Amino acid sequence: MSGLGIGLIGTGYMGKCHALAWNGVASTFGDVARPRLVSLAEVDAETATRKAAELGFAKSTGNWRDLLDDPDIDVISVTTPNAFHAEMAVAALEAGKHVWCEKPMAPALVDAERMAAAARRAGKVAVMGYNYIQNPVIRHIRTLIQEGAIGAVNHVRVEMDEDFMADPQALFYWKSEASSGYGALDDFAVHPLSLLSVLFGHPKSVIADMAKPYAERPTAAGGARKVENHDLASVLMRLEGGVSAVLMANRSAWGRKSRIALQIYGSKGAILFDQERMNEFELYQASGRSTEQGFARVLTAPAHKPYDRFIPAPGHGLGFNDLKIIECRELIGAIQGESAHVIDFQQGLRIEQSVHAMARSFVERRWIDV
Ligand SMILES: NC(=O)c1ccc[n+]([C@@H]2O[C@H](COP(=O)([O-])OP(=O)(O)OC[C@H]3O[C@@H](n4cnc5c(N)ncnc54)[C@H](O)[C@@H]3O)[C@@H](O)[C@H]2O)c1
Repeated sequence: MSGLGIGLIGTGYMGKCHALAWNGVASTFGDVARPRLVSLAEVDAETATRKAAELGFAKSTGNWRDLLDDPDIDVISVTTPNAFHAEMAVAALEAGKHVWCEKPMAPALVDAERMAAAARRAGKVAVMGYNYIQNPVIRHIRTLIQEGAIGAVNHVRVEMDEDFMADPQALFYWKSEASSGYGALDDFAVHPLSLLSVLFGHPKSVIADMAKPYAERPTAAGGARKVENHDLASVLMRLEGGVSAVLMANRSAWGRKSRIALQIYGSKGAILFDQERMNEFELYQASGRSTEQGFARVLTAPAHKPYDRFIPAPGHGLGFNDLKIIECRELIGAIQGESAHVIDFQQGLRIEQSVHAMARSFVERRWIDV
């Protein structure tokens, strides 16, 4: 069977991540045809040529629209800055391609709605890049909750923090432009929301606060530019099913490199997880003798599927890029008609609706129903 033909738009941080996933998925899983890396697009032909050679693509172009007309391409990965997602994803769907688009969908809700509508109309698979839901630990936590291992969940806290914008002297770039969105909300909060959505459901009502630690940032040209969005957000939420939840996101949190910390409290126990220690979780079960009760630290192992597809040895650990390989396998599964563990554009739109409700609650200083 011939593998899917792949087109890639953008070859930065996430573009490379998608390319590694497309390169690695068949060897890792052994149960899908090897994708054909047909063509990639960058801002200019020279960059595109260099990146195609590095990432293993047969062709390259300085005009992403060339991918739309290429009959060899079945799926397009969109890994450009947020402001371009809607235009590129909608065009790809209208050209009859499946789409794998990086989060968030789009800065404006109306554009996210256009993307979801285009996916429905095209009848093609359209999946968002919510890689953290693919961690075997998260999948197992979901099973534990469903099995009642910690009883009825009553409180969830989730924090996402990194420090790439913590330095006041860090240069202004597209992530500080209003055109990229609200800042911490649609850059960061969407990831915890993706986790909450697979574990418990979407928020029903929200109230948020946002803040700008630095009013302006230096520019590469030597001047300074006003920061146009908020690097911090704190949100109270009620989730579907009534669970009370707290979400905090901060792109300027010194010392935090990839923190996505979940604390889940139930009537019979608790579960802790942090993406910075993505190969383990802690489980507290209020059973047995109180003299031995405490958090058990569990390392991932082949039993935590699909860890076994990467390494036969327990406790050796997966990495960030492996989550993208799992996501890629799920995407291929969706295209093949299998039931897949992905956040498609319809579920992605629910996440965007939550983010916009949060932003509105901040402006209006009140709880908002999503
Ligand atoms: N899933 C995750 O964990 C995760 C992590 C980081 C970023 N992201 C998302 O990925 C997207 C890209 O972020 P990044 O950090 O990779 O950015 P980046 O700046 O590293 O890469 C963006 C790339 O897109 C290219 N590009 C821009 N305009 C283009 C055009 N018109 N045609 C072709 N190429 C174009 C740029 O030249 C660059 O190579 C963002 O939406 C971001 O939110 C997701």
